[in-house]
Amino acid sequence: MQLFIDTANLKEIEEFCHCPYVKGVTTNPSLIAKEGRSQEEAIRTIAQLIDGPISAEVTATDLDGMLLQAEKLHAIKPENIVVKLPMTAAGLEACRLLADRRIPTNVTLCFSLSQALLAFESKATYVSPFLGRLDDNGWDSARLIEEIVRVKRNYGYPTKIICASIRSVQHVETCALLGADIATVPYKVLTKLLSHPLTESGLLSFAKDAEKTRNV
Ligand code: G3P
Repeated sequence: MQLFIDTANLKEIEEFCHCPYVKGVTTNPSLIAKEGRSQEEAIRTIAQLIDGPISAEVTATDLDGMLLQAEKLHAIKPENIVVKLPMTAAGLEACRLLADRRIPTNVTLCFSLSQALLAFESKATYVSPFLGRLDDNGWDSARLIEEIVRVKRNYGYPTKIICASIRSVQHVETCALLGADIATVPYKVLTKLLSHPLTESGLLSFAKDAEKTRNV
C-alpha cells in the first residue's frame, strides 16, 4: 500500500518528500486555508517540492466551473496534478469528462459503498473514502473499506482507493490489511508510523555495546 501525505503545509511536505515511503500529496480547501495561501498558489508551491501525484481540489460547484478550474490546476504540472472533485452529480460528470481528456481525478468525500461504485463507474482515477469522519459519527470505516475493496476486485475497476481522514497508526494498518491501494496520512500520524518503544530501547543498547568495543 502506498502512503501519501495529507497536508498543504510546506514544512511538513519538505520533511517527507525525500523519504522513501511517501509517494504523493493530497490537499483540500480547508488544509490550504489553514496555511493562509490562495488555492492555486499553494498547489504551485507544492508542485515544486514533490514529484508524485498531488491532489488539488476544485472549489466550483457547477460543471462548467469545475472543468475550468480542473484545466487550470492540471496545467500547473500536468505530469503530477490530480484534480480532486466532490462526490456530487456535477463532480461525477466532470470526472467522466476529465477521464476522456486524460486528466487524472480523485473523487473525494466518499462515505458509502454506493458512492464509491458511482466513482468507479465514472472512471475516477482515485476515490477517497474518509475513515475518521465515519468513525467520529458512529459508522464502521473498516467495514466500508472492506466492501469498497471487494467491489473493486469483483469487477476489476482500475480506480485506486485512497483512504483519507486518517486519525491513527491503527487506521493505516487497517487500510493495508484490507487491501486499500493508498492511505493519505496527516503529518502527526506519519511521524508515528516508524517508532516503536522496543526499537528505541534496542537502538540504545546496541549503541552502548558498540561503544564498549570501539577500542577493542
Ligand atoms: O483530505 C481529506 C481528509 O483527509 C480530511 O481529513 O481529518 O479533515 O477528516 P479530516
